[in-house]
Amino acid sequence: MKKCILGSLLALFCSCSSHSNFDVASSLNYCEEQTLKSLAVLNDTTLMPRNILSGEEQKQWNCTSIYDWTSGFWPGILWYVYEYTRDDEIKKQAERYSSALFPVVDRKADNHDLGFMMFCSSGNAYRLTGEQKYKEILLRSADSLATLFDKRVGTIHSWPGMRKQKGWPHNTIIDNMLNLELLFWASKNGGGKDLYNIAYSHALVTSQNQFREDYSTCHVVVYDTIGGKRISQLTHQGYADKSMWARGQAWAIYGFTMCYRETGEPSFLEVAQKAADIYLKRLPEDYIPCWDFDVPNLLDAPRDASAAAVVASGLLELSSYVKDKAKVDTYFNSAVKMIEALSSPAYRSGQNNNAFLLHSTGHKPNGTEIDASIIYADYYYVEALIRLNRIYNNGKPNSDE
Ligand code: GLY
Repeated sequence: MKKCILGSLLALFCSCSSHSNFDVASSLNYCEEQTLKSLAVLNDTTLMPRNILSGEEQKQWNCTSIYDWTSGFWPGILWYVYEYTRDDEIKKQAERYSSALFPVVDRKADNHDLGFMMFCSSGNAYRLTGEQKYKEILLRSADSLATLFDKRVGTIHSWPGMRKQKGWPHNTIIDNMLNLELLFWASKNGGGKDLYNIAYSHALVTSQNQFREDYSTCHVVVYDTIGGKRISQLTHQGYADKSMWARGQAWAIYGFTMCYRETGEPSFLEVAQKAADIYLKRLPEDYIPCWDFDVPNLLDAPRDASAAAVVASGLLELSSYVKDKAKVDTYFNSAVKMIEALSSPAYRSGQNNNAFLLHSTGHKPNGTEIDASIIYADYYYVEALIRLNRIYNNGKPNSDE
């Protein structure tokens, strides 16, 4: 379908439905059905679902190794679906797939993604079961991630491999914000105090270097390792060095909101809000962004449902921290509109394939995962649904478990 027609249909759908009667249970039931379809055809726990590409008759997941950065999302989805259904068979599968990731921690950390991999899987597992084995693996993961911290710069080295490949002395990508949650969690659960300080420092230095004046974020910041100063702001997965890559902005909104929750630092809340405000200001009326906000021919550009899912989940949390009532309403209502749009026939995989969502874009400049179903879109979509369900049930987006 032409993207602009898709947009108009969605705008119509969104304007006709009201956030107050969004049927979150029906969308969670849909996630359960799709999960059961996937479980029926997946078996090998050393292979984690990653994407289902468009333009093929393909209904099943392409899988990836446990060492891929996306490996934690499938076990994480299973935990969220278990949280909703309390189905013992889904729990058993969640345990199998989460434990399958344990060997990841035996390797020396060579990028920042350990948080995505281990916190989405074992973090949810520990939250829902309290089992010691998950706690132990999380504490080891946090220590491993912390080895990438460079105190001269004050941030974690996101992609150490780029030192050799591109000659960047030290780089930090905006995605890295999400991985700080593992460090904050570990610092409260028997890990060293250093872990809190590392996460705090990373967020602070990122808040000072990763944003432009209008609070759009760049994907990559390169730093020198002598004075620890910023050398350049670049992109890797976005359209241009100065463009607003949709998922990068999503990581910023979600990441600084989470850092405010963990630290109470008012400047992190301010950054989260400013990053959200520019995102919302530039968003198309159907609430789903194109993969980058600055591409020419925006109407023909592929969408990124994954960015919408990350932002929806982040905004539900952000709306619970701001004091200004008008802002609370803007963030909450926008999140619900994003969830409604993602839950509409235009974005649901439904009979097309076993994922929850269609129309995400992974790495456009690389030509990979364009207009595809991607596992992290599903993870943040079901997380957003679970958060919305909690808000409807007890007024809070986060779990007490
Ligand atoms: N963290 C990699 C991405 O967002 O594609």
